[in-house]
Amino acid sequence: MSFLISATLSLHFAGIAVVNYHVSIRDPLMKNSIIVFFLLLLFACKKEAEQVQTTNPYQLNKPVHFPAIAYNNPENEITQQKYILGKRLFFDPILSIDSSISCASCHAPEHAFADHNLALSKGINGKVGTRHSPALFNLAWMRSFNWDGGVNHLEVFPIAPITNELEMGEDLKNVLRKLNQSQSYQVGFKAAFGSDKIEDKQMMLALTQYMLMIVSDDAKYDQVKRGTAAFTAQEQEGYLVYQNHCSSCHVEPLFTSPEYKSNGFNKDAKELGRMRITQLEKDRNLFKVPSLRNLKFTYPYMHNGKLWNLDAVIAHYQLPKPDALNAEPSIVNGMKLTETEVNALKAFLNTLNDNTFIANPFYR
Ligand code: HEC
Ligand code: HEC
Repeated sequence: MSFLISATLSLHFAGIAVVNYHVSIRDPLMKNSIIVFFLLLLFACKKEAEQVQTTNPYQLNKPVHFPAIAYNNPENEITQQKYILGKRLFFDPILSIDSSISCASCHAPEHAFADHNLALSKGINGKVGTRHSPALFNLAWMRSFNWDGGVNHLEVFPIAPITNELEMGEDLKNVLRKLNQSQSYQVGFKAAFGSDKIEDKQMMLALTQYMLMIVSDDAKYDQVKRGTAAFTAQEQEGYLVYQNHCSSCHVEPLFTSPEYKSNGFNKDAKELGRMRITQLEKDRNLFKVPSLRNLKFTYPYMHNGKLWNLDAVIAHYQLPKPDALNAEPSIVNGMKLTETEVNALKAFLNTLNDNTFIANPFYR
């Protein structure tokens, strides 16, 4: 679109200039060179068109129906070298103490970057973590990370899993030592950042670039929003059920929320949820609202991985929970859904599964 406008403008100017030339220029040599100039101009316009039409894959684009991107660091512009380096780091167990666990061990692309259908992830030496490994996508739109929002910037995020004793159990200094000893990483970092020594900041920025580019925006729902597909009658009915019962917390089009909420899990006294960060009683048992996208690939669900399928999830929401702490009335009272509504809701949730994203070789 922007090309069309700029091309029209250039031609418009060219038109004016040619008219001017007819009235004022008489030298035939000059005339020829001006014609050549405009031919070159047209050629340049065509070149520009080609460049715009073949979209640069190493660029974070906002899908038309998404809100503004939250991540903002003008100094960390995505480049091919940094992205590729970040991808390599994400899949490399070198980041763990015994070279056994990579980020991808718990965040697998075929599971929308959630774990391999494990309730709780396994780190080094088979150690079991305390929370379910969340799916990773559309992170560029998020302002806080983890179930309790304990990390508020993506760029510092990698320190958490690398140094967590139950995950990678490693020390940042040691990771840097290993990377600096690797000739191929030296080459990769040099190509990406232009410096001879590999530093922690560079490693974080590269990993951030890879994570930022993990975007899921091609589910049937997205196609409907773009006007290239249509919901079936049942999906449309399910969309209404979702809007009435789920959309206050799982907000379109990302199906998550910047707020922390309770959906009624408060059986576990050790799990404080958001209160772990704020120490405020009003935040006890509140969690970051996970996205409803790609549920087909990410089960089991919830911070504790306790629910294994959509039927169990919907049954959970239907059940009254009079003792739910810090929960909204719809959670406390339970949601009243007919069987037809439940089936329609499931059909709608199915339109949020993005097969293009899951199969995308760009992330592997
Ligand atoms: C042993 C499993 C494991 C490994 C290895 C691991 N993670 Fe995670 N990841 C988790 C778990 C569990 C959580 C949720 C933690 C919490 O809420 O306290 C998480 C959360 C995240 C989140 C927050 C997502 C959100 O929506 O809030 C990001 C981002 C992330 N991990 C990236 C990484 C990166 C990058 C690496 C490698 C440097 C990595 N993880 C390694 C298990 C793992
Ligand atoms: C009051 C806010 C609220 C409402 C309303 C709500 N949810 Fe949730 N939902 C949450 C929170 C918070 C979590 C995470 C809870 C946890 O991990 O313990 C969650 C988790 C989920 C998950 C798990 C996703 C994952 O990746 O683990 C699914 C699926 C889900 N909700 C579906 C729904 C559906 C379907 C509805 C409507 C019928 C709905 N939710 C209504 C707040 C809400």
